[in-house]
Amino acid sequence: MVCQKTSEKAKQLLNWVDERLPLSNFINEHLTHYYAPKNFNFLYFFGSLALLVLVNQIVSGIFLAMHYKPSAELAFDSVEYIMRDVQWGWLLRYLHSTGASMFFIVIYLHMFRALFYGSFKKPRELIWLFGMVIFVMLMAEAFMGYLLPWGQMSYWGAQVIISLFGAIPVVGEDLALWIRGDFVIADATLNRFFALHVVAIPLAILLLVVLHLAALHTVGSNNPDGIDIKKHKNPEGLPVDGIPFHPYYTVKDLYGMGIFMIVFAFIVFYLPEVGGYFLEHPNFDPADPMRTPEHIQPVWYFTPFYTILRAIPSKLGGVLAMGAAIAVLFALPWLDRSAVRSVRYRGPMFKWALFVFVLAFIGLAILGTKPVSPIATVFARIFSALYFGFFLLLPVISCVDTTKQVPDRLTEATIPLAKREGVHWRLFERAILAVQASPCYVRSKAYCCKFIASLPIIGCKPK
Ligand code: HEM
Repeated sequence: MVCQKTSEKAKQLLNWVDERLPLSNFINEHLTHYYAPKNFNFLYFFGSLALLVLVNQIVSGIFLAMHYKPSAELAFDSVEYIMRDVQWGWLLRYLHSTGASMFFIVIYLHMFRALFYGSFKKPRELIWLFGMVIFVMLMAEAFMGYLLPWGQMSYWGAQVIISLFGAIPVVGEDLALWIRGDFVIADATLNRFFALHVVAIPLAILLLVVLHLAALHTVGSNNPDGIDIKKHKNPEGLPVDGIPFHPYYTVKDLYGMGIFMIVFAFIVFYLPEVGGYFLEHPNFDPADPMRTPEHIQPVWYFTPFYTILRAIPSKLGGVLAMGAAIAVLFALPWLDRSAVRSVRYRGPMFKWALFVFVLAFIGLAILGTKPVSPIATVFARIFSALYFGFFLLLPVISCVDTTKQVPDRLTEATIPLAKREGVHWRLFERAILAVQASPCYVRSKAYCCKFIASLPIIGCKPK
C-alpha cells in the first residue's frame, strides 16, 4: 500500500522533472530503449571499465588536490605528507597512481577490441576518431600528472620529453621554452602542468567521452560478428538480435566491474608499485637538477612509442617516427578496405598481420623499459618496422585477403533474450530475480519508498 502510493508520487516527481528536463527521454534513449547486440563478450567490458577508472581518477584526484602543493619547493614533501600524515592519504594516492596504469591497460584492450572486431569501420569512424583524441589527451594527462610528485623521474622524464620539441626545425627551441615557461623544468612548469592536469585536460576528456558515446548511440554498437543488427527488425520495429542495454548490460557490466575492482584492490593494497612499473623507484627521491638518474625511462604505457623514438638514430627522425606511430592510428578506418568487419570472417593474411602487429607492440613496450644496448636497438628497429608495416600493408591485405561468408544474423547470444523467442532467460533473469527476492533488496526498497513518500514536494497538492 505504502509502495503503491510512493510509486504514484515518484511518477509525479518524474513528470515534474520531465516537464522541465527530458530526463525520461534520455534514460529511454540511452538505457532502456537502447538496443545492443545480444552477443557481447568480455571484450565489451572495457568501455564501461574505462568510465569506472575515469570516475576513480577524478574523485581520488579531487581529494589529492586538497593536500597537494604545486610548487617546486613543496611538491615532493606534500606528496610525502599525503602518504604519511593525511588520513587515508596513502589510499588516495595509490588509487590514483594505480588508476593511471589501469586506465591504460583498459584503454589498450578497448582499442584492441575495436581492431579485432572492426569497430572503427564505417559507420563508426567518428567513434574511433573521438576515441583517438581521448587517447592523445590521456597521454598528455598522464605525462603532466607524472611531473607533479616532483621526484627524480618526474623531473628528468619531463626534461627528456620536452627537449624533444627542440628538435623541430625553426620553432623547436622557442616551443620548448614556451612549454616549460623557463629555460629548464622549474616552478613555472610545475604550476602550468598542475593547472592543465587538474582542470583543462579532464574537462576536455569528459566532453570527448560524451561525444564518443553520443556517436556510438547514433550508429549503434558493433559486435563480435560485425553484423548490423538494425537490418532485422520485429513488427514493433525493434532489432531481433538486440536487447535493451538496461537491465541486461547494466547487470553484465556491474559483474565485470566487480571482477575488475577485486584485481584493482589487490594491486592497491598489496603491490602498488608493481615492481617499479606503476611507480618507478627513482621517483621516491626528490627532483635534483644536478643529478641525472642512471636510466631515464617513461612509465610503461608510454614505452611502445618511446622505443620507436629511440630506434631512429636522429633526434628529429625519432620525434617524427613517434608522432607518426600515433598519427597513423587516426587513419585506420580509411586504411582498412575490407568489406568484412570482424576478425571471425577475415582471411588468414589479416589474422597473421594483426597477430604480428600485437607482438611487435608488446615487444616495443618491453624494450622501452630496458636500457639501450646494440641488440635492443636492432630489435627496436625490427619491431618498429613491423608496427608501421601493419598500417602500410593494411590497404593491400584488406583488399586481396579472402573472407568468409558473413552470416545474416548473430551466431550466438551471450544473454539469450528469449522470452519473445520462446527461450528461457536463464542465468541473468534468475540472477535479477534472486536479487529482487533477497531480504536486503526488499528492505532497502521499503526504506526508499518511505523516504520518497516523506519528501514534502510530493506531498503538496497543486492549487
Ligand atoms: C576515457 C576513455 C574512454 C571511455 C570512457 C570509453 C567508453 C566507451 C564505451 C562505454 C563504449 C561502449 C561500450 C563498449 O563498446 O565497450 C565505447 C565504445 C567504443 N570505443 Fe571507447 N572509450 C574510451 C576511449 C576509447 C579509445 C581511446 C578508443 C580508440 C581509439 C575507443 C574506441 C571505441 C570504439 C571503436 C567503440 C565502439 C565499439 C563497438 O561498437 O564495438 N574508445 N567506448
